[in-house]
Amino acid sequence: MLSKLWGRITGKDKDLKYPDQQAVFLGRVGNYTVVFPYGLYADLPNDTLLKEIAQGVAVPVTVKRPSDTEQGESVFFHPATNTRVIARNNGDLDIITTEGNGDVNISTVNANVTASGDMVATVAGSTTFDTPETTFTGNVTVKGNTQMQGNAEVQGNTTLGATVTSNGKDISDTHTHSGVTPGGGNSGPPV
Ligand SMILES: [Fe+2]
Repeated sequence: MLSKLWGRITGKDKDLKYPDQQAVFLGRVGNYTVVFPYGLYADLPNDTLLKEIAQGVAVPVTVKRPSDTEQGESVFFHPATNTRVIARNNGDLDIITTEGNGDVNISTVNANVTASGDMVATVAGSTTFDTPETTFTGNVTVKGNTQMQGNAEVQGNTTLGATVTSNGKDISDTHTHSGVTPGGGNSGPPV
């Protein structure tokens, strides 16, 4: 007759062939094979609740719920930090790490993002593209100031709407030259 009471994890995974952890049921300590669905695993923290389903075999139960989810939504989450991946009822997939103050880190070979609509990155800090080559295939608008520390090459026409200076000299449309005398001589440089 199996106990209908809950057990509690009391020791970490023993790294045996099957996930096997120490637990206590009705005050008796023993080792239990912990059953997870295929592809899911956790070295359960102490005090995780277990239900014994066969002799020495138990299923862990998460009592805590992820926040900000609705009935019908599928969630993969960490009970301690509330970091979660939510498949929303409206079709969205949300990844939320803010409560646990965690990052989203992706390590891969090639990263491919294909969006049929828009892409928006809202960043409170700075943004760095650490890459030797960057290509924008479409038009680019920069609303802030731009500083180029390398050389610049422009193959298309260039339209300048404000003052242009070169080494501190004004070479805009209204600039004047020094040393001008009527005749065939050369003028001096812009003043
Ligand atoms: Fe000139």
